[in-house]
Amino acid sequence: MKVDLYEKIWMWGSGVLIVVFVGSILTTALGRAIIPPSHVETVDPATVRTDPRFAPGVTESPDGSIHVVSIAQIWAFLPNEIRVPAGRPVTFRVTTPDILHGFQVVGTNVNVMVAPGYVSQVTTTFHRPGEYLIVCNEYCGLGHHLMAGKLVVTEGAP
Ligand code: CUA
Repeated sequence: MKVDLYEKIWMWGSGVLIVVFVGSILTTALGRAIIPPSHVETVDPATVRTDPRFAPGVTESPDGSIHVVSIAQIWAFLPNEIRVPAGRPVTFRVTTPDILHGFQVVGTNVNVMVAPGYVSQVTTTFHRPGEYLIVCNEYCGLGHHLMAGKLVVTEGAP
C-alpha cells in the first residue's frame, strides 16, 4: 500500500507528539521532577494559631532578607497590611487554620494555594514600590469576596 509522503510526515509527527506528552506525564508522576513551590512542609491546622512559628508578621534576617508569615482564615489575612522593602528577597510563608484559601499579590508572581495542613512558601523580590492588593483566589465561602489584604512595598527600610 502506498502512503503519501505528506501523510507519512503527519503520522510520524503525531507519533512523536504522543511520545512527548505521555513521557512528560510519566516523568512528572513517577520521577517527581516537578514539585510546586508549596506543600513542602506540613503543619497541624489546629495548632497554627498558637504556634510561635506562625505568629503573623514581618521579620528581617541578618543577611537582609525579609520573611513574612501570613495566616489566611475565613475571611481575612493576618496581618491585614504587610510592609516590605523594595529590591530585597521576600519569603512568604502562608498557612491556614481552617479551609482552602489562595494568596495572590495582584500584579506580581506571588500566587499560591493555601491548604489546611500545609505551609505554602514563595520567595520573590519586589522592584516597584507601591501598594499591592492581596486577594484570596480560592472560593472559601460567604465572605470570600471580602477576603483581601494590602502589601506595601517601601523604598527603603521595612
Ligand atoms: Cu479565602 Cu476565598
